[in-house]
Amino acid sequence: MNRFPLAGKTAVVTGGAGGIGFAIASRFAHEGASVVLAGRTQSKLHAALSQLQEIKPWTPPQPQAHSTHCLDVRTPRGWASLVEAHKKIDILVNCAGETQHSLLLRLGEEEVDNLLASNLRSAILGCKTVGKQMTARHSGGSIINVSSLLAYRAAAGTAVYAAAKAGQLGLTTALSQEFARSSIRVNAIVPGYIETDMTQDLANKTDLMKRIPLGRFGKASEVADAAAFLAKNDYANNCILNLDGGLSAV
Ligand SMILES: NC(=O)c1ccc[n+]([C@@H]2O[C@H](COP(=O)([O-])OP(=O)(O)OC[C@H]3O[C@@H](n4cnc5c(N)ncnc54)[C@H](OP(=O)(O)O)[C@@H]3O)[C@@H](O)[C@H]2O)c1
Repeated sequence: MNRFPLAGKTAVVTGGAGGIGFAIASRFAHEGASVVLAGRTQSKLHAALSQLQEIKPWTPPQPQAHSTHCLDVRTPRGWASLVEAHKKIDILVNCAGETQHSLLLRLGEEEVDNLLASNLRSAILGCKTVGKQMTARHSGGSIINVSSLLAYRAAAGTAVYAAAKAGQLGLTTALSQEFARSSIRVNAIVPGYIETDMTQDLANKTDLMKRIPLGRFGKASEVADAAAFLAKNDYANNCILNLDGGLSAV
């Protein structure tokens, strides 16, 4: 068995400074990848990088060099700076995102635009910019979009977030065809409720847990398992992987 299946690969994880993104970054590092933690807050990125650099359980066959890249994923300029600084990206995980806190009628236009930009435009720009680099390098690649169960099981108070996350699934399916000729696989993870900062202040947490067949929120490490599978499995393309404790069934 290959203990370092991602050795020699460079993986960019947006939203990599914490929560699900950091769990994915850590898993990739354990499997031998060099990871670029991408996000918008330099101090959080540096703290996360220090933790990542402590992951040295074995000596991988190829040296690892983890790093950070500060960008706003909503902007083409941010993505341009990323591909300029990192000329060999093998795996992209679009994990950065922001959640919604109000009903649609109470959201200002700026908040609507921001939710669409941080959850959907970001992923579109990431796929376009990094996909272009991967195509030019003829190296193939793997892109993973972190969507949400709310994409198809939306609830009151999630309209714009849910619409953006549903858009990510459309993006994934379209690009799994457009990019396949360049051996770039495009997949999505659809988490239910996961224990992170994003869900820590949910008012109705106990009620939500009762609705989940497994009776609990998921762990970020469990989402990372899914990302590792999608990054490695060469036949996974347009694989839309639910991780919701069974909530999608009820
Ligand atoms: N937790 C859940 O239950 C759950 C369920 C389904 C889907 N998801 C999705 O999973 C992903 C990760 O969520 P999480 O729970 O790990 O949340 P989190 O801990 O809040 O992480 C979100 C990350 O995205 C970064 N980010 C947000 N906007 C950005 C921007 N414009 N440019 C660069 N970075 C930006 C944040 O950076 P700062 O900290 O610097 O703001 C943060 O590191 C999100 O896409 C979320 O929608 C989460």
